[in-house]
Amino acid sequence: MQQAAPNSAHLFVIFGVTGDLAERKLLPAFYHVTHREGCEGMSYLLGVGRRDWSDDEFRRRAKQTLTSSGLGPGELSSWCDEQVFFHGIDDYRSQESFVELRSRINQIEHDCALPQNRIYYLALPPEAFPAAVTALGENGLAHSAGYTRLVIEKPFGKDLETARRLDQVIHRYFGEDQVYRIDHYLGKTTVQNMLVFRFANGMFEPLWNRDRISRVELTVGEDLGVGTRGGYYDTAGALRDMVQNHILQLISLVAMEPPTAFEAESIRSEKVKVVRSITALRDEDVVLGQYGAGEINGQPVTGYLEEPKVAAESQTETYAALRLHVDTWRWHGIPFYVRTGKRLPRRTTKIAIVFREAPLPLFRAFQVRPPANVLVISIQPDEGFDLFFEVKTPDRSFRLDTKRLTFRYQDHFGRIPEAYETLIADVVGGDQTLFVHTEEVEASWRLLTPLLQHKPPVSEYRAGSWGPDEIYTLLPDWVDYCLAEPTQAAQRGKTVPGRENDRIT
Ligand SMILES: NC(=O)c1ccc[n+]([C@@H]2O[C@H](COP(=O)([O-])OP(=O)(O)OC[C@H]3O[C@@H](n4cnc5c(N)ncnc54)[C@H](OP(=O)(O)O)[C@@H]3O)[C@@H](O)[C@H]2O)c1
Repeated sequence: MQQAAPNSAHLFVIFGVTGDLAERKLLPAFYHVTHREGCEGMSYLLGVGRRDWSDDEFRRRAKQTLTSSGLGPGELSSWCDEQVFFHGIDDYRSQESFVELRSRINQIEHDCALPQNRIYYLALPPEAFPAAVTALGENGLAHSAGYTRLVIEKPFGKDLETARRLDQVIHRYFGEDQVYRIDHYLGKTTVQNMLVFRFANGMFEPLWNRDRISRVELTVGEDLGVGTRGGYYDTAGALRDMVQNHILQLISLVAMEPPTAFEAESIRSEKVKVVRSITALRDEDVVLGQYGAGEINGQPVTGYLEEPKVAAESQTETYAALRLHVDTWRWHGIPFYVRTGKRLPRRTTKIAIVFREAPLPLFRAFQVRPPANVLVISIQPDEGFDLFFEVKTPDRSFRLDTKRLTFRYQDHFGRIPEAYETLIADVVGGDQTLFVHTEEVEASWRLLTPLLQHKPPVSEYRAGSWGPDEIYTLLPDWVDYCLAEPTQAAQRGKTVPGRENDRIT
């Protein structure tokens, strides 16, 4: 959980280093982590890909990538030239290729006097995971004289059955203590801050239950469509792409009991209990949607079915809204509402904790109904939180106004690390707290697989709206997140739908 420092020299092997993730996220994050900690002398990188590149060719490209992510060429030269390597593999199913890879790893470790601490990062498409893991295991690369760690990207399976099969392959060669399943949301500072917010501040814990909270809302919105990822997305959809991983992880952190210790095993074991206690999803608790044509930021955009590589009559959901029940002592009877989708009005991830209204209608004589207090935790893009409460306006009439206490990370701490920086630092430091345990994967697929097998119909929604109209049958008055977005000046003065007393200030 801390930004763990690399404690000894290691070789970080990225499989799929020619891909989008490696270029945009992993290379810059690895560089920042190792150099920020002053451990560049300990960090060696071996890129693996289906190319016939030399070390020099890869170094040239790595320098380009890192320079475009803001690093000066001078800082990069010696590290790239001396500690970065490339190895080409044509076919991940070929034994011969991995025998050669093993020799290459041994050679680098010998030449650089490394103690066989190895990290394998599978930045590959999911269908390539089993072959890569098997090849590593069958060629004696799953264990070494130092430590060996395996990092696996999401998605982890397509349903319960495929996730179990992948786990079987992994556990044939690697112990669970060697496996780091990525859900990059867990690398975000605000997500980790949820634990601090709840368990380091004594004032919130007595309020954090069904007696004081009436509902929890979670919105994960993207203004983008599927772009060039239509081929992948059309086989996945919002339930697999967002709900099974990011959203259930966020709900776990909001709803979990305090861990007995601040370490991986205790935290992950409390999180998995939350997912296991979510009751089976009923049709009336689910709304699915697919975006049609519309407008985003004043620009016309096409509908999902017109996107490249999407099947002509696709029924894939680009939107899901759910009403979940976390059936624990703490949360019994309190709904958790979730909505996530593409082509929504803006990119935003927010959790609203809606408190119960004041018990006595004390201000009835003045025709004032104070709304519920709301705590909005902003995960992205403006990381922080806002607590909304009522004040009396200073004029002579008796009027109430909703105001907020605001905290924004950027106002106090400047740059916060990219999620992948945090996660890579933790892999190198051997801290599994922010990685998904096999039991969490199984519990989340167990919850969602029946829904995936019998999906309710998918309704169209206009791009640029908050989703299909049916979501208002789940919940008529979703919290309006303009409340928590100071930049939405254009909205000021308007009333909040469903909460006619509230004005956006
Ligand atoms: N990109 C993101 O922002 C993002 C975000 C979250 C999670 N992820 C996950 O991260 C992983 C990598 O994503 P990506 O966007 O980087 O994918 P990508 O660009 O499609 O491919 C990554 C790499 O995998 C190689 N590859 C493709 N098919 C292969 C096969 N059958 N056997 C061996 N290598 C193969 C590609 O090599 P070639 O260049 O030779 O084809 C490329 O180097 C995926 O599991 C994805 O779901 C990505």
